[in-house]
Amino acid sequence: MTGRFIIEPLKKSHNRSDFSCGNDRIDAFFRETVSQDLKRNYATCFVACDIETNRVAGFYTLSSNSVLLKDVPASLAQKLPRYPSVPAVLIGWLACHNDFKGMGLGESLLFDAIQTVATAPIGAHAIFAHAIDEKAATFYENYGFSRLLDQRLTLYLSIETAKKLMN
Ligand SMILES: CC(C)(COP(=O)(O)OP(=O)(O)OC[C@H]1O[C@@H](n2cnc3c(N)ncnc32)[C@H](O)[C@@H]1OP(=O)(O)O)[C@@H](O)C(=O)NCCC(=O)NCCS
Repeated sequence: MTGRFIIEPLKKSHNRSDFSCGNDRIDAFFRETVSQDLKRNYATCFVACDIETNRVAGFYTLSSNSVLLKDVPASLAQKLPRYPSVPAVLIGWLACHNDFKGMGLGESLLFDAIQTVATAPIGAHAIFAHAIDEKAATFYENYGFSRLLDQRLTLYLSIETAKKLMN
């Protein structure tokens, strides 16, 4: 897969109209709503483009976020300062077009998101991810993410663990 895709910020010139990842909610979000979120600075969006055809093969979004300390599993919470919430960055949605699945692109997008957050000059203790369903939650768990106590489809990975994963 190396060298086939370029990951870059979403631009107007990217064609989103035929994006299809197998999940209607995510497809509708990417085709119709993501530009509004960008305009209002609610999220940033990065796309993987097939260099040869310029097709959009996948994307992810990032937003600033926080989670209440009480919702974090005790094993993590006890190591954290006693502030009421934990600063974090949220991967809102991450998806690959059906035509580009199973070739490592989902993993590359996730690693790119982690790299972006881990090297940003803003403090964030963890990365959170919204999983669209159980299968998606498993995708994140495979990379060391853990589920929140009360919201089982929201998962977190500390930046410290994320950095180790990158190495
Ligand atoms: C989940 C998704 C992003 C994976 O993308 P992909 O490019 O096919 O995945 P990769 O080829 O990089 O595979 C990475 C690993 O994830 C696993 N995986 C692939 N699709 C998966 C899925 N739907 N659920 C759980 N695990 C999955 C692969 O088996 C692989 O693990 P392995 O190396 O141990 O075999 C893609 O299937 C997708 O867009 N699904 C619909 C949207 C979605 O569920 N997004 C997830 C966050 S909401």
